[in-house]
Amino acid sequence: MALKFHFTDFPTIIAHRGLSAFAPENTMASFRLAALNGFRWFETDVRLSADGIPMLFHDAELERTSNGQGLFVDYSAAHLKTLDAGGWFSQDFIGETIPTLDEVLDLCLELRLGINLEIKPNVDQDQATVEAVHQLLQSRHANPEILFSSYSVAALTLCQQLRPRTPRALVVDNFELNTADEIVALTERLGCTSLHINQQLIYTDLIRLAYYAPFDIMCFTVNKKITAERCWGAGCASIFSDTGLLEAPTLKQP
Ligand code: G3P
Ligand code: MG
Repeated sequence: MALKFHFTDFPTIIAHRGLSAFAPENTMASFRLAALNGFRWFETDVRLSADGIPMLFHDAELERTSNGQGLFVDYSAAHLKTLDAGGWFSQDFIGETIPTLDEVLDLCLELRLGINLEIKPNVDQDQATVEAVHQLLQSRHANPEILFSSYSVAALTLCQQLRPRTPRALVVDNFELNTADEIVALTERLGCTSLHINQQLIYTDLIRLAYYAPFDIMCFTVNKKITAERCWGAGCASIFSDTGLLEAPTLKQP
């Protein structure tokens, strides 16, 4: 089968949560490291603090990637900013904080990075998260290039209404909620420019069903060259990678 036609021109490798194999995920250090190693786009996860500030943090709970305890949603941005988000990864990164989206949008402008903002709502905050992100983007003088994505259909529906010209993507991990046919139809209905799938789904019918669909397929999380080649060979346009397929990244500015 020939390669699936590509509709977008995102890079073939997008740094996942920054270059998160080599720096703590979703921190400024991780985003800067991606840029230092030549990546032009990165993916990151946005959720709201208790006082409604969009911040970048993957898990609903604080424990895995910070020295905080409990649910992220229970704390104000001011409190979350006091936490250490680097020491869990290595002593070299002690002092990294949980970034606000506002800070990271500035970083993107400074480093000319594109940002894939995965809307990762706290429970029942699908629409509130999109509204807060939209308000922040509206309030700023300038914004970088953005690609929205989410597992949440409610979040993507609101992205479509509020920011119709910002590209968006449905994220799918498995077939628990929808069949492959339904996923393709849903991606089209939401006007998505891409469908972001768990890389294991390239071995399923989804690839065949999406072959003629008017959106790209991107795969997460792909950390080995052999897996990347399988994804690209299956017609995927881009992969999300923690390693960037690098064995030894450049760690510091020369
Ligand atoms: O956006 C792609 C990927 O990040 C989705 O899964 O859990 O790593 O945010 P997760
Ligand atoms: Mg993500």
